[in-house]
Amino acid sequence: MIRWGIIGLGNIALRFAKSLSYSNEGKLYAIASRTKEKRDEFYDKYNCEKVYENYNELLRDEEVDAVYIALPHGFHKHWSIEALKHKKAVLCEKPVGINSEEMKEIKKEAVLNNTFFMEAMKTRFVPIISDIKRMIRNKEIGDITAIEANFCNNVENIKPGSYLLDKDQGGALLDVGIYPLSFVMDMIDSQVKSVKSYMDINESGVDSYFKAILSFEDGVIGTVEGAIDRNKERTAIIRGTKGWMEIPMYNRPNKAVVNLNSGKSYTIEKDIEFDDMYAEIKEVHNCLKESKLESDYLTLNESIRVMEVLDRIRMNAE
Ligand SMILES: NC(=O)c1ccc[n+]([C@@H]2O[C@H](COP(=O)([O-])OP(=O)(O)OC[C@H]3O[C@@H](n4cnc5c(N)ncnc54)[C@H](OP(=O)(O)O)[C@@H]3O)[C@@H](O)[C@H]2O)c1
Repeated sequence: MIRWGIIGLGNIALRFAKSLSYSNEGKLYAIASRTKEKRDEFYDKYNCEKVYENYNELLRDEEVDAVYIALPHGFHKHWSIEALKHKKAVLCEKPVGINSEEMKEIKKEAVLNNTFFMEAMKTRFVPIISDIKRMIRNKEIGDITAIEANFCNNVENIKPGSYLLDKDQGGALLDVGIYPLSFVMDMIDSQVKSVKSYMDINESGVDSYFKAILSFEDGVIGTVEGAIDRNKERTAIIRGTKGWMEIPMYNRPNKAVVNLNSGKSYTIEKDIEFDDMYAEIKEVHNCLKESKLESDYLTLNESIRVMEVLDRIRMNAE
């Protein structure tokens, strides 16, 4: 049984704990929070064995096998590295850091300590994603020409002081843009050649909207969009020479609709097991059982590759 510790008890930590409760291979053993009310609420709900008032104490607990980093983006690197130094396997929320240099530092520490690390980019582990990638490889819609994905969400009532509006770690690109970016880069088996991008910067100094056009070396054009100030239907479209594929809610999909130029249309479906976070937790358990140091579905280098393109989107933005 893998004993998990959670660092930071915000919104996503609650969802993680619920998802972990579906597993027979891991259990919530310890929590760490600076906030008494959160510790109490969490303990009442999940009845874990250890409750810590600071994050370092949890890392010093030798019974903790794996740590889930559920902090705002700007703290991911620091606490991932601290956890790796204590030889804890790490599942760190997305985005893995605020730029590619941070992920490179994390990789260095993971390698140095011979310890597992994975970014919690849940989409990569959703079961139907492998089927979609197989269909692309089998050229069911011909040669891929273009792919579009967005995550545009009008986040109302952002609390003052929220990390979302902090210009060092907030904004649409880091918070939601990482989903379409990671998805597009997972689907296209080619490197990004050039990046054109546009950003709206709001009064807090963060990007409230961005759009990026990625030209891949094999000629595919990827269009990625993200927003915290507007809504858009969250669908990915993959276009090929023989037809196109639509993937509703592509960040946690359970179906894909294939439309062929011949007029034929069909849908493939695969259920999500329990919820959208369960598959990534299961992947960590599988990797630890096999003593792997990284996941084949999202390697350390792949997290770096995605963050490097994210850096280029930010750098090139008009
Ligand atoms: N995978 C997904 O579906 C998903 C969904 C939402 C968010 N996320 C990611 O999860 C991470 C956390 O998001 P969230 O929505 O859970 O955030 P949140 O509700 O604001 O919680 C963040 C937690 O971080 C801790 N923290 C430590 N230092 C802090 C500081 N200086 N300022 C604010 N908080 C601090 C706090 O924990 P304590 O007070 O308990 O110590 C707080 O409860 C983000 O990186 C986000 O991108 C992922």
